[in-house]
Parts: sequence; C-alpha cells; structure tokens
Amino acid sequence: MSDSNEVLFEITQAHLNTGLRGFPVGTVRTSFVSPDKGLHYVGYPVSKVWNVDPEAAVYLLLNKELPTDEQLVAFKAELVSRAQVSPAVLNTLAQLPKEGHPMEWLIVGLNLLGMTGKSANNDYLEDGMNVIAKLPTLVAAIFRLREGWGAPIASQPELGLIENFVNMLGVPDADPEKLTKLLRVFYVLHLDHGGGNLSTFTGKSVASGLADMYASLGASMAGLYGPRHGRANQDCLNFLRKVGTNNKDEVEAFVRNELANKRLIFGFGHAVLRSEDPRATIQYKLGEEICGDDPLYKTAIAMRERAVKVLKENPKVSNPYPNVDAISGTLLQAVGLANSDYYTVLFGLSRCSGIVAQIVDERVNFRNGKGVAIYRCKYITENQPNRD
Ligand code: MLT
Repeated sequence: MSDSNEVLFEITQAHLNTGLRGFPVGTVRTSFVSPDKGLHYVGYPVSKVWNVDPEAAVYLLLNKELPTDEQLVAFKAELVSRAQVSPAVLNTLAQLPKEGHPMEWLIVGLNLLGMTGKSANNDYLEDGMNVIAKLPTLVAAIFRLREGWGAPIASQPELGLIENFVNMLGVPDADPEKLTKLLRVFYVLHLDHGGGNLSTFTGKSVASGLADMYASLGASMAGLYGPRHGRANQDCLNFLRKVGTNNKDEVEAFVRNELANKRLIFGFGHAVLRSEDPRATIQYKLGEEICGDDPLYKTAIAMRERAVKVLKENPKVSNPYPNVDAISGTLLQAVGLANSDYYTVLFGLSRCSGIVAQIVDERVNFRNGKGVAIYRCKYITENQPNRD
C-alpha cells in the first residue's frame, strides 16, 4: 500500500450486482487466499500450520505471530479465566424451539452472551476474547439440548479449548480421541478465509456501525447460515450420501447424470480458488488415518477423482476442484457426528474466532487506531423514474 493513488480495480457496468466479486474494499492482516495456493494465516500457508494448537492459531490471527511457549501458556490461561457462561444463557437456550436450525440457536446464543456479559465500553478485544473462550460451552449445549443427549456437561476449560468442547459434547458412541484429533484440525482450518468471505465481511460491516462484538458475530453467523456459504458443508454431506456408491465408474456416472439434469455438484468450485482447496487436501489426508475404510470417505475420494475429471470437460467451469466442504462432513460423520445439521455450527465455532480478529483490527487497529469508517457503499440507480 505504498501509493495511495494507485488504481487497484477498474469498475465497469458489468461488475455491478456481482456480489462485489474481486472488488478491493479494505485491507486484511489475518489471512489471505491465493487462487492457486489457497489459504494463508498471516503469511503461513495453512499446510504449515494446520496442526498447531487451536489456541496458537487463534493467537496468530490476533497477534500476527505464533506464540512462544510462554505466550501460549499465558493465552490459554486467559481463555480459561473467561470461559464461564452465565446459567441464564443455558437456561434460555433450553427454552428454544427444537425445530430451529442449530445455526439459529447459535445466533440467539451469541446475542444471549452479549446480554449477559458485554463490556461496559464496547471493548471489541475484551468481548472478542470472551466469545472465543465461551463458545465451546454454548455450542456443546446446543448439541446436547437439541439432540436430547441430556443436560449440558460442566465445562473444564483447563483441558484446552477443543478437548473441553469434546468433553462437554459427550457424543454417545464416539471415540473421543479421534473426535478430538479431528475437531482440533477442523477448528484450525475453518478459522479465517481472507477478508471478503460473506460472514466475515458481514460481521465487520455490522461492527462498523459500532454494534458490539456479540451482535456483529450474530449477524456474521446469519451470513454463514446460508447454503451458498457455511451451510454448504451440511448440504455436501447429504449430497455424498445420495451418491450411494464408492465404485469410481458408478460415481462418475452419477456426476454425469446430475449435471445432465442441471443439478449442482456439491463441494466443488470456489469464488476465489482455482485449484484444490488446501483445507480439503489436509482433510483427505487426515481421513486416510482416521477413517480410511469408511464407505462415505471412499465415496468422497472417488468424487475427488471423477467429479474433477467430468467438471474439467466443461471449459466454462473455472474451478473444477474440491473445496473444504467436499470432505469435512465425511470425516465428522465417520467419528460419530452423524447429524449434518450441526456441521455449520462447528464451522461457526471456529470462524467466529477469525472474525473476532478481523473486527478487532478494523475497529481498534486500522487507520492509526481510528478504525475503518462505517461501511457505506454506492449503489447505482436503476429503474427509478425521476418524480421530483
Ligand atoms: C470460507 O471459508 O469462507 C469459504 O470458503 C467461502 C469464501 O471464502 O468465500
């Protein structure tokens, strides 16, 4: 950002109503997504940091450096000290209609956290740290209350963010070790994806009106809830279940039939990426280790080969490669989280931390501490006769 007069993007009529695709809007310090190499956290390709401690990854996004051992210990202790959730939040959650989607519960839950403990002076970092620390309890309660697994299990935050989450989930018939291994990686991989993904952009724009962190994250989770964004992981798993085979030729025939009937191939393509999403690559590999014999995992592997082959035949498809959703649900169901309705909430549990880091940058750090101005973009008038 050396020359403030540098032209970054020429806007033509054709760019209008394209969802701001490719428009530079601001700057971002937490992560970037390159079309060919995918996600980077503060410069580190995600392939280099996918297996760090979840807390260390959050620290990286907040502080722009990986923590030293001492810094990590202190950061974990700070999260532990903030983890307690008011019983009023859990009691209110217990009254919500079970018909509501878990993401609707999460949106309510975030606002309940705000109603029961927000900072006195709209301190984004303070509130953000509290959300990061308390969300595992909130999300575990959403699972247990909706699924009828019993009352929420007491939090033991000193176990670690994800270890405590798995303990509080108390998933019946799951192998806690495998679940922990997977959810630690899942959490790190879903934290952040550049500045312009819908949920992050929404959260930052709501915060630009000086709404507090909780309301801003609630809004961003409403963005994540949409099937074109975070809920794609749920739809993708249901789509894979529909394939019904892991025989590669049959999988290819299925893909061809779906395309012939103008139906979507879930889990392939991305607005920015033009190669396989490294978040998918990492999970395909992890899957070999934790669920290599799972039939759905084999279907996902067959899709990775044959869907790409078929999609590549169409020159209009700009990215025929798998994205993060092509495989994440497969691993979750293999380790005991069979109900795909919850996959977006797990995505949200992680993404909220990345959004916290970006909101803190926009509100507290950018423009020498002045913060980004209230979002107010320009819309071009269309079909509005002059009635002055
Ligand atoms: C994400 O992780 O936010 C999704 O891949 C969508 C996006 O980057 O736009």
